[in-house]
Amino acid sequence: MSVVLAIGAISIGALCGSAIAQSPPVEPEAEFRAAMAWAFPLNPPPDSYASKPDMHKPLHVPGSTRTYAMADYDDMFGAPDWFPEDHPPMPHIVAHGRKPAWACAYCHLPTGQGRPENAPLAGLQAAYIIEQVRAFRSGERVTGRPETAKWMPVEARNVTDADLKLAAEYFSKLTFKPWTRVIETTTVPKTHVAHWMLVPDANGAREPIGHRIIETSTDIARTELRDTRLGFIAYVPPGSIARGAGIARQGMGAAQACESCHGPGLRGVGDIPPLAGRSPTYIVRQLILFRRGGRANAVAAPMRTEASHLTLQDMIAVAAYAASRSP
Ligand code: HEC
Ligand code: HEC
Repeated sequence: MSVVLAIGAISIGALCGSAIAQSPPVEPEAEFRAAMAWAFPLNPPPDSYASKPDMHKPLHVPGSTRTYAMADYDDMFGAPDWFPEDHPPMPHIVAHGRKPAWACAYCHLPTGQGRPENAPLAGLQAAYIIEQVRAFRSGERVTGRPETAKWMPVEARNVTDADLKLAAEYFSKLTFKPWTRVIETTTVPKTHVAHWMLVPDANGAREPIGHRIIETSTDIARTELRDTRLGFIAYVPPGSIARGAGIARQGMGAAQACESCHGPGLRGVGDIPPLAGRSPTYIVRQLILFRRGGRANAVAAPMRTEASHLTLQDMIAVAAYAASRSP
């Protein structure tokens, strides 16, 4: 018995030794697969034993005189709007949808600031918005996980062209506001996925950041109520912002300088979208999607080439830099 064990131990040791000696290079796609956990967070299935919230209890957020109830959040043909004074009047499609198309503001918020799991629309060119919805509709643009394909692609097929034009005009006229605080750090709160985003564990545990961006809310309850005056924190690895600035301004290897197309400070030029101040999780997710061909529309061709020259670390750095710029 002990002999068998000893032989086993020797052969395992020899195997490990040879694996370390040859050290095969990490498959490039493996790092992108590992990034799925934070760049494409997947909600756990709903807990059928969880206690049901009171659907009619009045809810409030600081600074708003309005009252909503949980029941209002169950309806995707409406969107809680705590601060109507913060944005112009919404077209019907944005505020209420038009069956079967849901209200754009339900996910992208009345201010168009968006959340890490969807996209900021405020301040994008109307033509760019229309082109992206067209690409979701045709299947040229995908969202990365089969579980998330039920939203934007379905919405894109349900919205009429006339409503899409109104929504695109509305969001393009909004000014995108700084919304995400970027912090370089070696350790981050341990998080789990809830509400399609990373949420710090209740026990306050921390862990090394590794090659990740941990973007989270400082108050998940207010974020879930769609409080549009509360933004996000994005923890990024130390040195990311300076490294990202280099890539954005000078390029990196075969990758061109991002600013050569996205403009100084990454504030966008014409139909080339602005990146400054926007969710770094969203930016990395899109870079991975470009790289994997998930944005196959013709106008995205330069980005597919660009993303194919970036490592995951480059993407994290440039997203951290972009998110830290003022829009
Ligand atoms: C049920 C939620 C939901 C609704 C409702 C919704 N969207 Fe989206 N939208 C998303 C998600 C999620 C993404 C991000 C997909 C990804 O990460 O690739 C997105 C992305 C987008 C983008 C891409 C932005 C960019 O920078 O490329 C546009 C444009 C867009 N939505 C427009 C709209 C419009 C217009 C409406 C209303 C007619 C709408 N959306 C309604 C969930 C939604
Ligand atoms: C040769 C021009 C060019 C260069 C260089 C370039 N981009 Fe782009 N980028 C584009 C175009 C064009 C689009 C819009 C694609 C579309 O309309 O579908 C885009 C879109 C994007 C988007 C999607 C934004 C959104 O709202 O969904 C991201 C993220 C992005 N670029 C990041 C970068 C980064 C980071 C770099 C530098 C490493 C970079 N780009 C360099 C042309 C460029």
